[in-house]
Amino acid sequence: MGKIILTGDRPTGRLHLGHFVGSLRRRVELQNSGLFDKIFIMIADAQALTDNADNPEKIRQNIIEVALDYLACGIDPTKSTIFIQSQVAELCELAFYYMNLVTVSRLQRNPTVKTEIQMRNFETSIPVGFFTYPISQASDITAFRATTVPAGEDQQPMIEQAREIARRFNGIYGDTLVEPEILLPDNAACMRLPGTDGKAKMSKSLGNCIYLSDSSEEVRKRVMSMYTDPDHIRVEDPGKVEGNTVFTYLDAFCQPEHFAKYWPDYSSLDELKAHYMRGGLGDVKVKKFLYAILEELLTPIRERRKEWEKDIPAVFDILKRGSEAARAVAANTLADVRSAMRINYFDDAELIAEQSRKFQG
Ligand code: TRP
Repeated sequence: MGKIILTGDRPTGRLHLGHFVGSLRRRVELQNSGLFDKIFIMIADAQALTDNADNPEKIRQNIIEVALDYLACGIDPTKSTIFIQSQVAELCELAFYYMNLVTVSRLQRNPTVKTEIQMRNFETSIPVGFFTYPISQASDITAFRATTVPAGEDQQPMIEQAREIARRFNGIYGDTLVEPEILLPDNAACMRLPGTDGKAKMSKSLGNCIYLSDSSEEVRKRVMSMYTDPDHIRVEDPGKVEGNTVFTYLDAFCQPEHFAKYWPDYSSLDELKAHYMRGGLGDVKVKKFLYAILEELLTPIRERRKEWEKDIPAVFDILKRGSEAARAVAANTLADVRSAMRINYFDDAELIAEQSRKFQG
């Protein structure tokens, strides 16, 4: 059996650097590695609606933004199937059967859902669809028989839930579903890239994001106003690198060759950090270095996006064809699921014969 990737994003806004280091960059590498037989990238609009039911227009507007970000980053529609979740109705039917395999208390223990409930002030009125989205996500993953889900650390509980559902299903109805594995970023800074204000995660509502589609000027402003070490007041003062956002970003983005290109005074990040900690190195210089690195990364992404923006109907066509292809695959898994559960009554000659015998007694 082949190796298959499924992963995706909620279309609630343009994608940012957190998405990039958390999963997007990895997807493109995996796509181009040739090690995977199939790659499915899903725009999770139905999941986004679980906490945006009153604002469907936001989701509708952001589908194209996410698709453009994918294409700009190098997701290649001839190698990866990009599709829209709501256009694959089979996913809902799978979720409906999986719901019987999960308890309410198991869902209540999901740490990602717990934090999200707090962040959205849902404590007293959690939409049922939102509460159960880990089950729907298990359908997304298992419908494509995904072996591998490249995603950020916050998705770990979802993958664990999907594995449990697959295991439980296979235990009751016989071997049908594949248990997926998560593929996490390989470096701690990428695992949870903070916002530019040093706060937990990049989030649109906190206004602490650098978007993949931001202009050079927007990126420059964000970098120059980044949170550093509040006690590093004069250049001579020794500075701290832990919890210093500029250095966390360097941990995530800086490569050894960047020094020769942009700052030949140093030969490695360790050397740069040591100078900063000793004192005598100002924030502005370090920020300019980070800005140069980010610009090198973002310029080609921005340019590719501009090209795709000239042909929006072509992007929708990619999504339409991707959704059709995805639907065929999910329908296939659903047929296996129905047959394993023996609810495929009309294809079941044995059932009909058995019932005939019973009544003809
Ligand atoms: N929950 C993911 C997010 O918030 C999006 C998503 C939906 C997903 N279905 C998925 C990710 C399946 C990986 C696999 O970003």
